[in-house]
Amino acid sequence: MVGQLGHPGPVKPLRLSVADAGEALTLQRAAYVTEARAYADFDLPPLLETLEETRVALASCLSWGFRENGRLVASVRLAVTGHVGVIGRLVVAPDRQGRGFGGELLRVAEAAAPPPVTVFRLFTGSKSVGPLRLYAKHGYRETHRTPELDYELVHLEKARVHPSGPVR
Ligand SMILES: CC(C)(COP(=O)(O)OP(=O)(O)OC[C@H]1O[C@@H](n2cnc3c(N)ncnc32)[C@H](O)[C@@H]1OP(=O)(O)O)[C@@H](O)C(=O)NCCC(=O)NCCS
Repeated sequence: MVGQLGHPGPVKPLRLSVADAGEALTLQRAAYVTEARAYADFDLPPLLETLEETRVALASCLSWGFRENGRLVASVRLAVTGHVGVIGRLVVAPDRQGRGFGGELLRVAEAAAPPPVTVFRLFTGSKSVGPLRLYAKHGYRETHRTPELDYELVHLEKARVHPSGPVR
């Protein structure tokens, strides 16, 4: 990660816990404002999430983040159900976007998923050009769409690839 993100020192992913809930929610709200504007909807679930819901989520799933000089600038969650790892709430602070944090956290979550996970799933909105491009670049392929009011949720999937080849 050194240099790749344009930082003078190493930037290491950290596991986030319930203790990070307040910061994680603040980061999430800041990051999702651009999405809210794109959808003309400030009631998107990530913006409505309460601190208690963030605490519960961090207690029940795996989460990682990047800190710069102590400040939480990016985070992601991974919820594991059987062989499926559901990636969600990938967020980067507005002033730190476009520097590789998002893509790197996606890789971190995939690499750290427990062994039973053989497939990763996630979704985003059909108007979310940036995330759609990011996920396509990382090998995610669309499986189906579900309708929302005036857009669709695009569901994507990626088979886990181990060094020795895909897990079957
Ligand atoms: C989506 C998000 C997590 C990406 O994080 P990031 O650190 O900015 O992304 P990266 O710097 O790792 O970008 C990697 C790739 O993502 C794509 N991408 C990210 N943001 C983009 C944008 N605004 N427009 C077009 N492509 C974009 C590009 O393909 C980019 O690679 P490239 O520049 O080589 O083409 C971040 O923009 C964010 O927090 N957005 C608001 C919240 C959100 O929508 N989260 C996803 C919910 S599904």
